[in-house]
Amino acid sequence: MRYKILELLKQRNDYVSGEEIGARFNVSRAAIWKNISKLKIEGYNISSVTNRGYLIKDNRDIINSYEIMNGLNTKFMGKNCIFFSEIDSTNDEAKRRAESGEPEGTIVIAEKQLNGKGRYGRSWISPKGENIYMSTILKPHITPREAPQISLVAGISACNAIKQFTGLEALLKWPNDIILNGKKIAGILIEMNAEIKDIKYIIMGIGINVNTDEIDREIKYKATSLKIETGKNYMRRELAKCIIENFEKLYEIYIENSSFKYFIDEYKKYCINLNKRVKVIRKNEEIKGEVIDVTESGDLLIRTDEGEEIDIFAGEVSVRLDDDKYI
Ligand code: BTN
Repeated sequence: MRYKILELLKQRNDYVSGEEIGARFNVSRAAIWKNISKLKIEGYNISSVTNRGYLIKDNRDIINSYEIMNGLNTKFMGKNCIFFSEIDSTNDEAKRRAESGEPEGTIVIAEKQLNGKGRYGRSWISPKGENIYMSTILKPHITPREAPQISLVAGISACNAIKQFTGLEALLKWPNDIILNGKKIAGILIEMNAEIKDIKYIIMGIGINVNTDEIDREIKYKATSLKIETGKNYMRRELAKCIIENFEKLYEIYIENSSFKYFIDEYKKYCINLNKRVKVIRKNEEIKGEVIDVTESGDLLIRTDEGEEIDIFAGEVSVRLDDDKYI
């Protein structure tokens, strides 16, 4: 009910009387007051004036399931959206939801993560109210070997969305670090529950530094935010929607074609590793060489200093550029 009232206040952009709200939704004055109070607790700036009614005063960057689903132009992605003001990790919650049977396309989004997770067991710093932390449940009919391709597709869609929403040209450090002006602005973590041949589900989590002013001292030299790079604040929920919409579009193409082939040119356009010297850390060995290509399955093709060509699979390694400050 409260979001119906909210919608009416947003549409009107002027005072709406309690009488009108009551008549429209068939609710008592006390119920209206209760719902308005809940909206205020959620952060909406609503003024109540005797004899005039209720007015929503500014368009704050509030994230909740209503705001994400409202106006979201997708077929299935985000149609089921679960919001938390605080959660351990949206990836972990999405996993729990997938286990309990929530459908493909379910989005878990939070204002704050207490145990945000990065790749390689690192943590992902997730302060309240500044950034985007969201995860999607996917149930593609692909093999576990192909699963990392989903994160490459997600990387492309994040760059497309950032471009569409901010005009900024983000790039990709293979496999899926999103880089702006030489620093990391966003990261993608995919996790899956799979048997040898079949995937039960994949969780695709994305974290984007949006309105953070300050990056932790230890990672300041390699991480940034949209705000730091442009001096502007961005509406996180609109960017989140733009990412969901862009991702659905590419994900559908990926599933229809059952192949990463279709994306290879676009991926290479964004990829900063091509023709660069890299150091690959695989289990206990370190391999040095030059990136000569990204293959049709999304692997990195490297010519080692010993002259051997090797194929690096996204699931297995950490790749550093020679002058690496990113990871
Ligand atoms: C990386 O190391 O680059 C991946 C970072 C992924 C962070 C996101 S934030 C939302 C989702 N929940 C998590 O715990 N991690 C991912």
